[in-house]
Amino acid sequence: MEFESSNWIKDGVYFYPHLFGGIMITCALLSFSTSYFGKISVPTMPYLFPDLRVFHKNKSANKRVRVYMDGCFDLMHYGHANALRQAKALGDELVVGVVSDEEIISNKGPPVLSMQERLALVSGLKWVDEVIPNAPYEITEDFMNRLFKEHKIDYIIHGDDPCLLPDGTDAYALAKKVGRYKQIKRTEGVSSTDIVGRILSCMKDAKSEKLFSEPSGEVDNLNNTRSSKSLVNGGHISHFLPTSRRIVQFSNGKGPGPNSRVVYIDGAFDLFHAGHVEILKSAKQLGDFLLVGIYADHTVSELRGINFPLMNLHERSLSVLACRYVDEVIIGAPWEVTKDMITTFNISLVVHGTIAEKNPLSIGKSDPYAVPKNMGIFQMIESPKDITTTSIARRIIANHEIYLKRNAKKEASEKKYYAEKKYVLAD
Ligand SMILES: *[C@@H]1O[C@H](CO)[C@@H](O)[C@H](O)[C@H]1NC(C)=O
Ligand SMILES: *[C@@H]1O[C@H](CO)[C@@H](O)[C@H](O)[C@H]1NC(C)=O
Ligand SMILES: *[C@@H]1O[C@H](CO)[C@@H](O)[C@H](O)[C@H]1NC(C)=O
Repeated sequence: MEFESSNWIKDGVYFYPHLFGGIMITCALLSFSTSYFGKISVPTMPYLFPDLRVFHKNKSANKRVRVYMDGCFDLMHYGHANALRQAKALGDELVVGVVSDEEIISNKGPPVLSMQERLALVSGLKWVDEVIPNAPYEITEDFMNRLFKEHKIDYIIHGDDPCLLPDGTDAYALAKKVGRYKQIKRTEGVSSTDIVGRILSCMKDAKSEKLFSEPSGEVDNLNNTRSSKSLVNGGHISHFLPTSRRIVQFSNGKGPGPNSRVVYIDGAFDLFHAGHVEILKSAKQLGDFLLVGIYADHTVSELRGINFPLMNLHERSLSVLACRYVDEVIIGAPWEVTKDMITTFNISLVVHGTIAEKNPLSIGKSDPYAVPKNMGIFQMIESPKDITTTSIARRIIANHEIYLKRNAKKEASEKKYYAEKKYVLAD
């Protein structure tokens, strides 16, 4: 800021191109001479480079590339997160349009999550710089011009699936024509349709219907035996193939700095929702480094019944890692916080939200926070939102007829996609 308004940078702008050219020549000469004459020390270079870097940095600071991507982001999952991560990589600032409830209702039927909840989820992603609420479902020429003029967008980003307007024309034709359109690859393995399918297929099981009913406090309800189909994904075949590369792409890649205060929070983080974002934000504010323990699949099943978790451990880990308040995750954390964990990760504080998913099968188990409580490093924190995985699943069940119909149609087209898909080098 200061540099921009001072004369120094103005002079610099005119002056540096010469210097830049000069350095280029010097470099060429030096590299030639060093290779030619062998060991020649180059004392002048190091102090020239820092100046050069300042110039480059500020040149790019003047023109930050702003990219735009939109979506419904209903039942936010790591596929959405990955699309936005790729979009961000195409620019410096990512602006995300979140489609309004009304537009979703008239185009696809009722959304599971409200505008507020969807905004909270999208804003919580570490790659998102700005959000535009109530974006149109179909990108009109009018809205596109607003993006370019008002929001100073340089490029509109969209997935590689064709997006057609009702009249059959390409929705992004204008952006393409003016060279301000960029495309990203679809993230394989997950879709909102798939997640709704997992919840609905749980419901088919008469016993598990009770799982989503109002909590009765009866443990008997959940004492169902493990059926032959894999229920980690509600009997659905997951196309998700976890890779180490994806985890790395989502990670911050940094440990806690010296003297940082490490805060630990754990849970299933199933069907990552706005309530999770809020509690992670509150937890992060109590320290410098937020470590999140994500229960293993078998731990969640033991606590909540065989239909849970709805999302498997790797899927849940990616959703949590995508959150801007999270620094690190433990993939498959134990139910009990042990002394060894506290020492290993130098945990200063263990927190737990006041509103948390009921763990009906945990009755009779020992207090998972006994150790941190004894050490005086345990704290309950107020959950800002009264929302749980079960409450979201219940919304889907309440509207299951609409969702079943919608899903049947979409599942057919997704099946076709997987049958016909070919290898693509995706990022
Ligand atoms: C570049 O300019 C920005 C203002 O646009 C300023 O905040 C920043 O400190 C400058 N960076 C360097 C390295 O001079
Ligand atoms: C759960 O089921 C097992 C075997 O089906 C049975 O032996 C046990 O008593 C049941 N427990 C409860 C609490 O109903
Ligand atoms: C452990 O955490 C405390 C803060 O609670 C910090 O002062 C200390 O430096 C940390 N230890 C190491 C080795 O980083």
